[in-house]
Amino acid sequence: MSNIEQTLSIIKPDAVERNLDNEIKEMFKKKGFSILKEKKIQIEKSEAEKFYKVHETKPFYDDLCNYLSSGPIVVMILEKENAVLGNRELMGATNPKDAQEGTIRKKYGISIDKNSVHGSDSIDNAKIEIDFFFKDWKFLKLLWDKVYALVIISFSLRSF
Ligand code: CDP
Ligand code: MG
Repeated sequence: MSNIEQTLSIIKPDAVERNLDNEIKEMFKKKGFSILKEKKIQIEKSEAEKFYKVHETKPFYDDLCNYLSSGPIVVMILEKENAVLGNRELMGATNPKDAQEGTIRKKYGISIDKNSVHGSDSIDNAKIEIDFFFKDWKFLKLLWDKVYALVIISFSLRSF
């Protein structure tokens, strides 16, 4: 049975700074991920704090938020079967030292804090994180789908 999921991926500042975004996107595509939506942005520290709120009690929280807001990032909605787990597997372990051969963090990660990519860790968090960065897009898509449905319905009614 098909189990198409969407997940949020971020190419972090260390990788964007080294111009690795295209190579990393190729790794996703080679594994069968579709990149439904992407944008290159720089976020404020306050936004990074919201995004990583789950880690607010951790000793690395402040550094992590400074870091994520320190330069441009590429945020993407990835889609494929079992995308959440598939993305976590392709990313590799949080610490690049522990990451397996063939993973993004093994190939490009510099250190535990500069580990090149973020990926949602559950289906629920994927929805929350996609909304965090792409709420406007989801709203517009919903609106577009409704308008499209209305056009189809009115055409079908006319042909009667
Ligand atoms: O990113 P991932 O889900 O693998 O790890 P996490 O436990 O959710 O931690 C979020 C991010 O915090 C990591 O990707 C690391 O960049 C950073 N971190 C850190 O700087 N030092 C740690 N001891 C643990 C995580
Ligand atoms: Mg995490």
